[in-house]
Amino acid sequence: MSQSECKLRGKFITFEGIDGAGKSSHLAAAAALVRDQGRRVLTTREPGGTALGEKLRDLLLREAMHRETEALLMFAARREHLEQVIEPALERGDWVLCDRFSDATFAYQSGGRGLDREKFAQLEQWVHGHVQPDLTLLFDLPWTVAGLRIAAQARARDRFEQERADFHERVRLAYLERAAIAPQRFAVIDADQARDVIQKWVEQTILVRCL
Ligand code: TMP
Repeated sequence: MSQSECKLRGKFITFEGIDGAGKSSHLAAAAALVRDQGRRVLTTREPGGTALGEKLRDLLLREAMHRETEALLMFAARREHLEQVIEPALERGDWVLCDRFSDATFAYQSGGRGLDREKFAQLEQWVHGHVQPDLTLLFDLPWTVAGLRIAAQARARDRFEQERADFHERVRLAYLERAAIAPQRFAVIDADQARDVIQKWVEQTILVRCL
């Protein structure tokens, strides 16, 4: 690929954190910011983002299954998502803002469920060795706070949200470990702060690291 073609490729930004960390609402605000800078933006999510991926999401969030089945379905949905949505958008020069990506599998299925992370390193290489996020925003929050936020919402909890506190704390630690080994890609925020403070940080981080 020539240098000019490289420059045209869009940026890939992922939003991560335990359930209830507030990343999804900040993703919407970040998309507006990037659009204001004159870029085309595609917002999407995992598991999901394609017709097949959304069906898999429905199963993953509701049906009991073996933990390895769960992990493999996450990567199967991701393969489809990359092929159908993420890669074509980046190649067109669009920016892709994605609510969760492979870091979530390392955090939930390895940290939370206890599966071997080396297997995920291989799957990651297989499924998207050539595509990695340019920036990953990690919204860090203790489960004692996040769990209360979820409990305050008037809706049924999904399979992950129903997990015990120690599961969520392991997920949190696994995210922080991922961030520590890739500081050039990650930016971590204490998500137990006022919404406008976090939003400003999101904006500044994207402006400085990607624009
Ligand atoms: P969401 O609530 O952020 O939309 O994500 C749905 C749930 O799926 C969330 O509890 C985290 C979980 N998840 C995994 O366990 N592994 C993954 O790889 C992804 C993408 C999500």
